[in-house]
Amino acid sequence: MKKILIGLAWPYVNGDLHIGHLAGYLFPADIFARFHRFLGNDVLMVSGSDCYGTPITIEADRRGLHPKDIIDEYHAKNVSLFKELGISFDLYTKTTTETHKNITQEIFLALLNKGYVIKKTTPQYYSPAEKKFLPDRYVEGICPHCDYEGTRSDQCENCGRVLEQGELINPKSKENGKKVELRDTEHYFIDWQKFEPFLKSYLEKRKGRWREWVWNEAFGWLKEGLKPRAITRDLDWGIELPLKDISEDKRIRHIEEKRIYVWFEAVIGYLSASIEWSHNQTKKGKKVSWEDFWCNERAEHSYFMGKDNLAFHALFWPGELYGYDEHIHLPDNLFINQFLTLEGQKFSKSRNIIIDSKYITETYGNDPVRFYLTSISPEKRDANFSWAEFVNKHNDVLIGNLGNFINRTLTLARDATFQEKLVEKKIQNHVEKKLEEAKEAMLHGEGKKYLETLLALSDEGNKYLSKHEPWKQKDSATHIFHKTMTNCAMILLGVQTLLKPLLPETCQKMEKMTGITLSLWPQKGELKRALQKINIEESRPLFRKIEKEVIEFERGKLLVQ
Ligand code: MF3
Ligand code: ZN
Repeated sequence: MKKILIGLAWPYVNGDLHIGHLAGYLFPADIFARFHRFLGNDVLMVSGSDCYGTPITIEADRRGLHPKDIIDEYHAKNVSLFKELGISFDLYTKTTTETHKNITQEIFLALLNKGYVIKKTTPQYYSPAEKKFLPDRYVEGICPHCDYEGTRSDQCENCGRVLEQGELINPKSKENGKKVELRDTEHYFIDWQKFEPFLKSYLEKRKGRWREWVWNEAFGWLKEGLKPRAITRDLDWGIELPLKDISEDKRIRHIEEKRIYVWFEAVIGYLSASIEWSHNQTKKGKKVSWEDFWCNERAEHSYFMGKDNLAFHALFWPGELYGYDEHIHLPDNLFINQFLTLEGQKFSKSRNIIIDSKYITETYGNDPVRFYLTSISPEKRDANFSWAEFVNKHNDVLIGNLGNFINRTLTLARDATFQEKLVEKKIQNHVEKKLEEAKEAMLHGEGKKYLETLLALSDEGNKYLSKHEPWKQKDSATHIFHKTMTNCAMILLGVQTLLKPLLPETCQKMEKMTGITLSLWPQKGELKRALQKINIEESRPLFRKIEKEVIEFERGKLLVQ
């Protein structure tokens, strides 16, 4: 049994989550977590709401509220959404907890005392009109790398590059459009150069393991050379510095006005949430410890996120961990997805190019959405959500292939008896081979391939049915009928196995209909033995057709407004 830590990017709590979040990391991580639990591994799946920094203050300012109100509203919404979606978190918390603050301060101090964090005076955007320094997201201008207009001063949303103060062309205050200038201010910086040898060997060990484009991008950053980066901000909404633990000579000027930069602390959430989780568990009387996951070389850590989070998880997070404690477990897998577009366009809240997660899953069901988003999962390149494709794949593939095979088999099987000895060796081997193939794919975080393997299997099931026509054998050749149906049931149990982590609600319905519940991924021979226990009480179609009119209806909502 392995200890598997699964970390999902912490969403900023400043708005509703849209299907980009579902496709980018929520569904892929949940499928992966359910898969590992199914294998019998010990899974700890954590994330939480990213509560600090300017993404939150900007939304609070816009609505004339306090950041706390924004957090309360959206954190609660996220929690209830995840519950409805069935995202199987062991803990979904937030960055405003005491535990998170304590661990963040502890890591900060360790890095400061080991000389990884240094003091540095640098120019920063200052608004003469407002007489204050402006945080990253309050300043926008033109990206020096890709010429994108309206780029934030810390990272370009178009090309993904991280920007330093002063790099932005033609910087202006986002709030009032007034020109801003650079003035000197003192901050703490991480001296990333000191981590370069460590990061180089860290990345080299992960070559071939990470998706190629992910590794190349991470290595590209490193090759360019890492510069010191500020980890404090002139802002009052963030984690405070541990003032009383910082010696006089290590203090920066105006230290009490500075806060820890949101990206420095948000990633620490993976560790602090694990610690918080283990506190809660002890209370329930179970013996669990976060150290099993973090101070254990054989544990396995997998992270899920969108590509704009890449540098923070591929370089900065391992660096922070290593600087804090050379023996702590570092990220093993980074399952980073590219972006999702919608009807060929970038998501945009203001232009209403968006589909709300709650809306789509409530309207069409969790599993149909999980199915479609997995089928287009942006693992290697950007992918596009199209309503036409959603509806067509739902009707033609989810129902036409998968639902059809399950339904035909269950309906016919009511009159059949299943016997181990009637299973053809060829079929058994084939089903087991497909299970192995799918398992391999999922171990590598390849949800799309896993789904394709499942669909190939049910497609073969359909072909088997069409070839043997058991409905004709039923009355004339009973023995052959039982044989055909036994083999179909063998395929059916393979399908049910693969469905469990992928479409859990559908699998549950199937479990009721077949009378078979697999709590662990079946070993060779196990499905065959399970056949005799099949007990079909009822069979109902698992999915409902979506009418074609839905396409125009849904598209209209996006493009008309
Ligand atoms: N809040 C960030 C975003 O939405 C993601 C933070 S991931 C974390 O892009 F690990 F740093 F928390
Ligand atoms: Zn750019």
